[in-house]
Amino acid sequence: MTQALIDHAAAILAENDKGAYTVPTHGLYPFQWNWDSCLTALGQAHFNEDRAWTEIETLFAHQWDDGMVPHIIFHQLDDGYFPGPDVWQTARPVPTSGITQPAVAGFAVARLFARAKDKDMARRRATALLPKIAKWHDWFFRCRDPQGTGLVAIIHPWESGRDNSVDWDAAFERVPTDGVMPFTRRDTQHANPAHRPTQAQYERYIYLVQLFRGLGWDNAKLHDASPFQVVDPGFNAILLRACGDVAALATQLGLTDIASHAQAQADKGLTAMESLWSDKHGQYLCFDRKLGALIQSPSIGGILAAFAPIPAARSQVIANTLTKLGAQVRYLVPSHDPAAPEFDALRYWRGPVWLIVNYMIADGLARAGQTAVVDRIVADSLALIAESGFAEYYSPVDGTPCGGGRFTWTAAMVIEFLTDGLAQ
Ligand code: DGY
Repeated sequence: MTQALIDHAAAILAENDKGAYTVPTHGLYPFQWNWDSCLTALGQAHFNEDRAWTEIETLFAHQWDDGMVPHIIFHQLDDGYFPGPDVWQTARPVPTSGITQPAVAGFAVARLFARAKDKDMARRRATALLPKIAKWHDWFFRCRDPQGTGLVAIIHPWESGRDNSVDWDAAFERVPTDGVMPFTRRDTQHANPAHRPTQAQYERYIYLVQLFRGLGWDNAKLHDASPFQVVDPGFNAILLRACGDVAALATQLGLTDIASHAQAQADKGLTAMESLWSDKHGQYLCFDRKLGALIQSPSIGGILAAFAPIPAARSQVIANTLTKLGAQVRYLVPSHDPAAPEFDALRYWRGPVWLIVNYMIADGLARAGQTAVVDRIVADSLALIAESGFAEYYSPVDGTPCGGGRFTWTAAMVIEFLTDGLAQ
């Protein structure tokens, strides 16, 4: 059974492999996505370390001069996706989007290095990648935290990876739609529209793209110009975990300047994360930087914060919160609290389970010694695969597979779970 699942996952990685990068799934997502690639590399490394390093190197080959690493690299034109390069207009040699995605690369590279069988190759390739990752992190703190709070804001919901989370609803209401170009969505031609964001959300996504495009994608201007500025604890936790992992790896590689700088970023951010904690919800919350207020939305973003080295007492409370959620649904971890009125078991980030988030939460809680809840998350993740295949996401209530099928990062995470890849 285990070997059959690993073989199936490996076949999915192979069929979505375009040589030097991997598409998340054919049809719905026909290009290279930033955080998909970094998590995919972890799965690839079990079969081919060289190929895994290449996945991340290809992504960083398209890093912008200011340090930003885009969320999509449009390697080959494909009009089955909207919005394509003609909408983004970022004037890059190989077209890219103009916004970023969760900074999971530092974590992924540290993990590839720690597990590498070919240590010489790993040393060489990590040494080349680390300065680029550090430059990306510096970009985050310079361009998405201009006041120096220690925490970065997303300026577009797509940056979070949790595109249509309930967390953004109120802030997104303030994003106008005047002057939005007419457009035809492609996602709903590949996936069930009831599983995807709504048309009203898409209009606001495109409004923001047009606004930033009108500012020439100048990251010195975009943060302050955006009507949407949200500090997401999950997004920051990924960045801060990556900073800490980069610091540790840079120390091993003798890159002492990178190490001390990255550790200072992690320390400052982790201290600032405390301002997002909610005793009432038993998790962290998002912060609306435009309003200067916490967003009272019990989503998975504040649980994913456990991926970072948060205080042990916080990990304990998050584990308790997960245990309570686990009593309400068959499969952990729902992307929104099932007791909340906005919960939707099938719609993208408003309820469904995502294996990549399960993996990161489980990894962080394993490091914190919360083994009982980690065992439940791993068991639920594998049960979803066995019962519903390698989908993009799943109903936490009955396991209905949702979104795209034969999904790359789902396959990579299954390999990780089955080979006991957590906290290694
Ligand atoms: C999409 O197109 O749905 C992506 O999530 C945006 O990156």
